[in-house]
Amino acid sequence: MKKTTAVSSGSRVKKNEAFLPIIFPEGFLWGSASSAFQVEGECLTHDFYDWALKGRIKDGTNPKDAVFFWKNYKSDISLMKKMNHSAVRIGIEWARIEPEEGHFDEKAIAVYRDMLKTMRKANIAPMVTLHHFSNPMWLVRKGGWKNRDVIDSFARFVEKIVPALGDLVDIWITINEPNIYASHAYFMGSFPPGEKNLFSMLKVQKNMALAHVKAYHLIHSIHTSKGFDRAKVGVAHHLRTFDPARPSSPLDRFSAFLCRKIFNDGFLSIINRDGITFDIFGINYYSGDLVSFPLMMKGRSELRKNKLGWDIYPEGLCRVIMEYWKRYKLPVYITENGTCDDNDELRPEYILDHLYQVNRAIAQGADVAGFYHWSTIDNFELVDGLMSRFGLIQVDKIKKSGELYAAVSKENAITSEITKKFVPHWKPL
Ligand code: BGC
Repeated sequence: MKKTTAVSSGSRVKKNEAFLPIIFPEGFLWGSASSAFQVEGECLTHDFYDWALKGRIKDGTNPKDAVFFWKNYKSDISLMKKMNHSAVRIGIEWARIEPEEGHFDEKAIAVYRDMLKTMRKANIAPMVTLHHFSNPMWLVRKGGWKNRDVIDSFARFVEKIVPALGDLVDIWITINEPNIYASHAYFMGSFPPGEKNLFSMLKVQKNMALAHVKAYHLIHSIHTSKGFDRAKVGVAHHLRTFDPARPSSPLDRFSAFLCRKIFNDGFLSIINRDGITFDIFGINYYSGDLVSFPLMMKGRSELRKNKLGWDIYPEGLCRVIMEYWKRYKLPVYITENGTCDDNDELRPEYILDHLYQVNRAIAQGADVAGFYHWSTIDNFELVDGLMSRFGLIQVDKIKKSGELYAAVSKENAITSEITKKFVPHWKPL
């Protein structure tokens, strides 16, 4: 039975499981997320395919061999249904829709339409991302996101895809993690095109912000002119907690403040210059850093790490939700949260720990509308490749963590039956 209000026992545990059940608000959306190039497979016209050919993927795999969602989406959507999803986040591959500049592939658009219809039939509400890291090669040849023309190119893509799919989409995400894309592709050099230049990074962040603002207004006007439901538009923004490594050091405190200003808030401050340009606030949360002067990051030695060495810091999720909820007072969606764990050993507990923090934020007054676990299926992990696993599903088998997530989604709560069955020792942190 669905209950109506979020209940949390507060931050500390009472004895005898008095903290259970942890109940989510009625209508809370339970889903998972993926991006197009990380799951679709068989697309040879984007820059991550090219990056893999250049030998830049750690395990030597190529996104063309990702789990073939493009072909198998019907059976994958049945698995989502089995996991009691009420929502899902997918991506549209720009390079597939517009493989050559100005030439749109109508057949590919029809496949996306069918994908969305299949989700709707299963009562799974789609959230759709328009840009999630990968780019068409023709765009790359023109200077990619460094060239200001990208703002108009992206708008042309939006003008093509939104009228074609908007009636089936609940929420549009214009751009995924602009801060991660700009920093990894243009400053750290780990994503294509592999530049390491601070000025390029800032230029790209600015062009992405302007592209978002233009797309935001376009999507609204297309929905209105086509008579679709009012659009809900946002970004999926990567947020981290940054804390001073030595709290007593003013320099460390200042460095942590700078990280928050630049990494967490840089993009937001540009897109909101002339008024807020999102209707919902999407948070992708993975971890946090300790910062020492001058901008050196490290983890917290006391915390567990995932396969990629990232700190598992659930509390950070409640912290970022509360900070941005207080700032914008717009519905928050956890558009990504999950961990790299090849054998599904950490994931069950990871999920409970993070859901508990979402619930804490709700109990403190935040309007959190839904949670999208990253990822749905083991997918192509950016620069690590196919061997680094984030999914609730392995190919076509629901993992233990997927079953746990399905049970929580069904109950709309973390119950003692669920914890006993899946993580008997679990207690909220
Ligand atoms: C990205 C995903 C990625 C995940 C794990 C997020 O920052 O949006 O594409 O797979 O992190 O690294």
